[in-house]
Amino acid sequence: MKKPIILAIETSCDETSIAIIDGDNKLHSLVTNTQMEVFAEIGGVVPEMASRMHVDNILPIYEQALAEAKMTIDDIDCLAVTSGPGLVGALLIGVNFAKTLALVNNKPLISVNHLHGHIHALDLEHEVKYPHLSLIVSGGHTELIYMAKRGSYQKIGQTLDDAAGESYDKVARILGVGYPGGPVIDKLAKDGQDTYDLPMPKNDGSLDFSFSGLKSASFNTANIAKMKGQEINHNDLACSFQTRVVTTLINKMELAINQYNPVQVSIVGGVSANSELKKQAKERLGEVIIPSIVYSTDNAAMIASSALVSYELGEFSNGLELNANPSMHI
Ligand code: KG4
Ligand code: ZN
Repeated sequence: MKKPIILAIETSCDETSIAIIDGDNKLHSLVTNTQMEVFAEIGGVVPEMASRMHVDNILPIYEQALAEAKMTIDDIDCLAVTSGPGLVGALLIGVNFAKTLALVNNKPLISVNHLHGHIHALDLEHEVKYPHLSLIVSGGHTELIYMAKRGSYQKIGQTLDDAAGESYDKVARILGVGYPGGPVIDKLAKDGQDTYDLPMPKNDGSLDFSFSGLKSASFNTANIAKMKGQEINHNDLACSFQTRVVTTLINKMELAINQYNPVQVSIVGGVSANSELKKQAKERLGEVIIPSIVYSTDNAAMIASSALVSYELGEFSNGLELNANPSMHI
């Protein structure tokens, strides 16, 4: 089979991103525009605004991605696009752009599950071995995925309520320390102690997660202190919250490793940038592969890499019938 050149598009949330890779997972260009600064001022993503910014950005980013790869559309063998999960309006910009490109240029199209993308970010920098266990931790998802072989995905655990990244963002908001909350809380926690008596989330033998109780307990701690006119120590609360989130994530990974015996383990998604998570993973689980930050937060290189798996398996989308699916599962 000829090794393809793939151009992939990602617009599922607040990043407009286009990447070009070849059949060896070598990246020829990656251009990403993040709307993070706009939404940092507002304190969260406004879906309608995100969609409008994708519309403004997608064509210049497409042209830049081709220029940086020193290619034209004629060099591209296949197009790929994230079709879910994500914000429906945002997804539709990428999906319709990709469908149009595919139709006008007569190229095959691959639909990519954003979560598969987070996992295949690993292929850009690592030799991934199977059976493999991956923890996906992002703003929208917390899932344990077992892969018996390349291209096979079995969800063996998931959050029953908030995702880990979402709970970071919400606790940061209540403390008024900024958005996105993950990096801010991570930084605050470095100078804090685990002094607040918060509950350990879903501390049981299952592989599922639940972060809403810990989030509410953190809110209550901050609010009760405020009502009593007491100072809340942001560093200590950040540290107490983070210790419990990370310890829970590693506990569940440990359980999954014992049950499934993978030969390699990874952590992917935006929260994998967390310093305490990296530390505990190394101490307790041994070798865990984690993508570089540029590939762990939303980007199109990971979508291209995931599309390569589908290409190898001959899994193409039915062109014009492709639609966005905001609640797509693994
Ligand atoms: O994967 P991602 O870029 O987007 C989604 O698909 O959701 O993940 C974004 C999430 C946000 O919730 C953000 O707060 C979190 O990743 N995050 C972190 C850190 N850096 C980003 N969470 C904890 N610690 C960090 N250092
Ligand atoms: Zn993501």
